Amino acid sequence: MAATHTATEILRRVDQPVAQASGLPNERYISDETFIADRDNVIGTGWACIAFIDDLPEANYALPVDFMGLPLLVTRDKSDTIRVFHNVCSHRGMHLADAPCKTNGMVRCPYHSWTYALDGTLRGTPHIGGVGKHDHPEFEREKHGLKAVRSSTWLGAVFVNLSNDAAEFEDYIAPLTKQFNELTTPEQRDRFKSAPQGCRTTLEVNSNWKLAVENYLESYHLPSVHPELNRVSPIDAHFELDYFDNGAGQGSLNYTRLSVDDQMLPMVDDWPEEHATRALYPVLYPNTLIGIHSDQLFIMYLQPIGPDKTVEHVRVSYVGDEALSDQYKKLRDETLTSWTSVFSEDVFAVERMQKGRSSPGYKGGAFSPVMDNPTHHFHQWVAKQLVNSDSA
Ligand code: FES
Ligand SMILES: [Fe+2]
Repeated sequence: MAATHTATEILRRVDQPVAQASGLPNERYISDETFIADRDNVIGTGWACIAFIDDLPEANYALPVDFMGLPLLVTRDKSDTIRVFHNVCSHRGMHLADAPCKTNGMVRCPYHSWTYALDGTLRGTPHIGGVGKHDHPEFEREKHGLKAVRSSTWLGAVFVNLSNDAAEFEDYIAPLTKQFNELTTPEQRDRFKSAPQGCRTTLEVNSNWKLAVENYLESYHLPSVHPELNRVSPIDAHFELDYFDNGAGQGSLNYTRLSVDDQMLPMVDDWPEEHATRALYPVLYPNTLIGIHSDQLFIMYLQPIGPDKTVEHVRVSYVGDEALSDQYKKLRDETLTSWTSVFSEDVFAVERMQKGRSSPGYKGGAFSPVMDNPTHHFHQWVAKQLVNSDSA
């Protein structure tokens, strides 16, 4: 059985200069106990991505999401406002919605038929005061709406803060948007849209969610794991992004737009000429992996299923309505195929690291003082969340 370490012990071994530091201990990757602790003390303390907005394809829609054992409900009301609630009825605690559905503006509990509007307000309480009496003078309906989860939306994705005490979402992402602003304005980023085809995929990975983050943060593995990609966007064209409180990442100076039959996808207007081949690949901790380019933007969010199982949800979006037309379908399909192939190559790496986490011969390993700085930054971030949650 793996040794266990306190949060303070973990921080002590991780929070050293990179050449002397060692990483998170094995038990943080393999035990059911630390999986739930990750939810409550690591993922839950930040802003985690749990869905894409277009998982709710129209107004008056409700989407149940199981997030690390927590039943959540994402709603889109008639004016397209997105909200997130705990997916549980306020009466006797029935799990409320169990499948994505178009609604008539209400969600009805299947047990005693209490109904909730998509803003969480409790509207209907049939027979609560006896047969045929749908009110009771001592029952204060306004106190029994759905329980809201703090949520926000950005780049077509839905984020939640489960602990309810993270910084405001805009402040949380501000250092990252500042780096994005060197390439695009927020208005230009709003033009990235997803299409019905050539846009979505999921990958099931037999590894802990943190290994997928760690792998994404470094380009050290490019020549061995992605030989094709390394030919067009080689390891020495990569650079580290500025670190920030809730993220890190890398970028490439050698992004080449895909060309099919002499055609390329439309670019963001006014993308600075000097940055034409620049792409940024940040991770917004805890679980959002982003790739921004002049003609496409992808988000991969990690849905942890168990200590050694993660689903990667990928959505690629393209610039403006024009890019969504049939004319560009082949380019969209090839873009998605090419990312799927790169991400599939990474599956091998993270699954083999997961296997290595069962070895008592591994005690957190070491970091390259040059190539692993973003990975080390993530380990420090995790360790700090654990210590902060311990002392909370
Ligand atoms: S448990 Fe939902 S209406 Fe009774
Ligand atoms: Fe990779």
